[in-house]
Amino acid sequence: MKLIVTGGAGFIGSEFVRQAVRKNHAVVVVDKLSYAGDLARLKDVQDSITFYKADITDKDAIKQIFAKEKPDAVVHFAAESHVDRSILNADEFLTTNLIGTHTLLDCAKEHKVGRFINISTDEVYGELGEQGQFCEDSPLNPNSPYSVSKASADMLGRAYFRTYKLPVITIRPSNNYGPWQYPEKLLPVVIVKALKNEPIPVYGKGANVREWFYVADCANAILTILEKGKEGEVYNISSGDERKNIDVVKTILSLLGKDESLITFVKDRPGHDFRYAMNSNKVKRECGWKPEVGFDEGIRKTVEWCLKHQDWLFEKIKDLEGYWKKVYKV
Ligand SMILES: NC(=O)c1ccc[n+]([C@@H]2O[C@H](COP(=O)([O-])OP(=O)(O)OC[C@H]3O[C@@H](n4cnc5c(N)ncnc54)[C@H](O)[C@@H]3O)[C@@H](O)[C@H]2O)c1
Repeated sequence: MKLIVTGGAGFIGSEFVRQAVRKNHAVVVVDKLSYAGDLARLKDVQDSITFYKADITDKDAIKQIFAKEKPDAVVHFAAESHVDRSILNADEFLTTNLIGTHTLLDCAKEHKVGRFINISTDEVYGELGEQGQFCEDSPLNPNSPYSVSKASADMLGRAYFRTYKLPVITIRPSNNYGPWQYPEKLLPVVIVKALKNEPIPVYGKGANVREWFYVADCANAILTILEKGKEGEVYNISSGDERKNIDVVKTILSLLGKDESLITFVKDRPGHDFRYAMNSNKVKRECGWKPEVGFDEGIRKTVEWCLKHQDWLFEKIKDLEGYWKKVYKV
């Protein structure tokens, strides 16, 4: 299949691109290379893909790419993806995540693409207490500007399926971690701070629970749904590996041989969702997918990757010091 992959220079998108190339798909990456995008992630496959530096909100540019490439399917990852940044300023989130998705849906409709895979998030469901799981038909209750922008894009995709019969599939992954994650998200923040022996900021008391999902498993689930999923459907994809943030931090410190005294509790994120957990039986039942990498193995591989790629991580954090001060106030 010929795939347009938006956001393919990002964390999850690049893992998807590497796997799609291995499966002999023809891959066209469209990415504006925001602060979070980096072609270094695609180095291993650079000779096997076509790359366009373009903004998904730029209608003319996107139209031209579709006209030239005539894709069979679109896999749409491009987004502003960090909740904390959306709390500081939601402008870019609404523009890229909603208006950008609209541009892509329109181009996909015009070119009658065979599949439009819209990558959403578990965060659209809002928060859970200690018990329960979200299913695909749970109501959407997004609580941050980021999750609102993603839920809005989901609704637009739904409307394009219903109104224009565009074959949209919505996929909701849980919290990803793994190689190449930009060091503004919890795991790489903890790893770089620990390597520098600096205070590790943890929101509140670190009691928030996330379902940690190894990025290679996530990309594999998306490829499986691309091939086997049903048009117009929503699929939750997740690992079942729930962990409190504080336990994730302690695991990393122990793997790095660092002291827990580096942990510094900071004022909680405004509107911080307590817990996310999803039931992902539907994708297992309908597409025959299951996760392969458990948390203990995934976290070990992630720490090992970060130790081997310190140059990349430390180059990235040069831009992050001021941002961290603004967000964590430490
Ligand atoms: N990381 C997670 O834990 C997670 C969990 C669930 C869902 N998601 C979703 O998965 C997708 C990928 O997430 P990620 O963590 O890889 O994000 P990321 O921030 O690492 O990458 C996003 C990519 O999109 C590109 N991009 C941003 N705005 C763009 C624009 N206007 N035009 C073109 N390209 C643009 C960036 O350059 C970057 O390469 C996002 O849609 C995100 O909402 C992420």
